[in-house]
Amino acid sequence: MTEDGMPRELISREVLDRRVGELADEIERDYADSEELLCVGVLKGSVFFMSDLLQRLSRPLVVDFFQTSSYRGETTSPGEVRIRRDLDHSLAGRDVLLIEDIVDTGYTMRTIMALMGFRGARSVRLCVLLDKACKRETPVQIHYRGFEVDDVFVVGYGLDYDDRYRNLPYIGVLEEPGASE
Ligand code: IMP
Repeated sequence: MTEDGMPRELISREVLDRRVGELADEIERDYADSEELLCVGVLKGSVFFMSDLLQRLSRPLVVDFFQTSSYRGETTSPGEVRIRRDLDHSLAGRDVLLIEDIVDTGYTMRTIMALMGFRGARSVRLCVLLDKACKRETPVQIHYRGFEVDDVFVVGYGLDYDDRYRNLPYIGVLEEPGASE
């Protein structure tokens, strides 16, 4: 924390903006021949990143969202993921770009990507802002990656601790989550 009680800055707004622009350029190039892209955000963490990313794309696209919950209690298997809000659109025959804030153990994205393939998507690619690769427990193929981060708890630019800090305009490190509770 800084002296004014805010999380210490890890990735500045300027660096975020530059990288989001680079990712958008890559996506625009890769999908040049695709008819219409279905962009699926994972609520709530991806919202700020997704908004900035998609405003930089000029190709035709459709926006959709879903929300998951992960359970890591003793009564559930490790990495069990449940869908709390499903998509509005059908995936059959669509090119899907999945947009997520951070991949940690990888269970959430592994489950969701498998589900999208199962529902008949023509292609599924994953775009994540932050990759906590050191925490991975199951492999996930990331097609577009903003930054790799160490094993620290990050907040801001959509990422939260207990639904707080999402509106910070930068990525910060919460040194001791829960310490101020
Ligand atoms: P995974 O299934 O372990 O990959 O979980 C990914 C989810 O964990 C993300 O969508 C976030 O909601 C949450 N998460 C993991 N690490 C962090 C962090 O450092 N800050 C905020 N949320 C995190």
